[in-house]
Amino acid sequence: MKNKQSLFLSKKELLKEAGCDDYEESAKRLFSKAFGIPLAQSYKYQTHEGSSENASLFSEMVSRRAVGVPTSQIVCSRSFWKNDFHVDGTVLDPRPESELIIDVAKNLLFDGMRVLDLGCGSGCIGLSLYKENSNITLFLADFSTKALNLSRKNAQELKADCKFIHSNLFSNINNKFDLIVTNLPYIAKDDFCFLQKEIILHEPHEALYGGGSGLDLIKLFLDGVNRHLNKKGIFVIEFGEGQHFLLREELLRSNFNKVCFYKDLNIVNRVVCVKKDT
Ligand SMILES: C[S@@+](CC[C@H](N)C(=O)[O-])C[C@H]1O[C@@H](n2cnc3c(N)ncnc32)[C@H](O)[C@@H]1O
Repeated sequence: MKNKQSLFLSKKELLKEAGCDDYEESAKRLFSKAFGIPLAQSYKYQTHEGSSENASLFSEMVSRRAVGVPTSQIVCSRSFWKNDFHVDGTVLDPRPESELIIDVAKNLLFDGMRVLDLGCGSGCIGLSLYKENSNITLFLADFSTKALNLSRKNAQELKADCKFIHSNLFSNINNKFDLIVTNLPYIAKDDFCFLQKEIILHEPHEALYGGGSGLDLIKLFLDGVNRHLNKKGIFVIEFGEGQHFLLREELLRSNFNKVCFYKDLNIVNRVVCVKKDT
């Protein structure tokens, strides 16, 4: 049997040949998971043989990655903000651009604040805010029961005390909040075919598809959000590249004038923070 280092190098090459964009990163994460070696500990020092079970597991994981299964779904975990979250293909994998919501919203938190994460998926946004201030009262809502199950698992893992609501937008939500954060689906119908094949095949479409304009769900959210905000309440929304002008119009149409847009690391408008007028 090959030593672990040469096994790593050959599998990395296999992923490269299979056209995997992030072959180096993927190979490292799969290697670390299969052999139970911390990611920070480089394969370079693994010059001895590993067990054949670990080696077969690594090979099997690499084969799945080579046919396009996302690495996070193979290792069942994805890092977001300061924590790792369970993922399993039933929810959207947390994305780095969504960390901008945390960057903006973390400064608004206060003890006792009532916070809703609507369309919580894995729970990565709400739970990351909870880890910034565990004295908030956190509600996680989604219309997918699978997402709620997974967010419950992540909440347990992170020892977060929060409430879960099964709801289509606000249909099952009777409370009011000081802060609502949301990353609802925003991919427009005509843009769907431009998504990476890997995303189309392996991520839930109900977590991506935002209707004809991409903003269909966000518009429905804007119709209902005012009734669910306390006085001086705030909401923070993530949206897609190029949707900033249309969203600004929609916000003005809904009488939201106190708005502040934020750009992500690619200098793309990505998040808007909106204050209720009264
Ligand atoms: C883009 S994903 C975001 C997931 C997670 N918040 C994140 O940032 O990784 C959108 C989430 O909204 C949920 N969702 C879609 N339509 C919804 C609706 N009408 N009501 C409630 N949740 C919805 C999906 O199930 C999915 O979990």
